Amino acid sequence: MENSENIPQVHHAWNKTYMLDIPMIDNQHVKFFALFDKLQDLNQTDDSHEQILEVIKELEKYTNNHFATEEALMRKANAPDYELHVVQHQVFIAKIEDFKIAYSYNNAALLEQMTTFMRKWFLMHISEVDRKYVDPVKKYLNERNTGVA
Ligand SMILES: [Fe+2]
Repeated sequence: MENSENIPQVHHAWNKTYMLDIPMIDNQHVKFFALFDKLQDLNQTDDSHEQILEVIKELEKYTNNHFATEEALMRKANAPDYELHVVQHQVFIAKIEDFKIAYSYNNAALLEQMTTFMRKWFLMHISEVDRKYVDPVKKYLNERNTGVA
């Protein structure tokens, strides 16, 4: 059984108050902050443009998977404000896409801004938007695990 108190590593800007007590989701959220830190660290090394682009692509893929996980859980759990939540996800995905294109044209100064934006976006999104699905999703997972649903 996974322990949601177990944060693999404390990443920049991340702390336990952002845990939703849904281990599958919390672990995915932590991974985002690890990727943001990785981007920032790479930015401080020379000749890292290609590596950074790879991380941005990884981030893009990971974001799509994570949002799909959340959206599927929300649908199954009948969580409130589903459509609004999905719109927020789409805005973030569009932002990463723009960022990837701009960065590929060697706009290195953008990385710092974008990492800051993504961290802030996630912290706000987790605290204000994701939090709304916690009760219904936990209830759904609980019932599924105990065979009620
Ligand atoms: Fe979300």
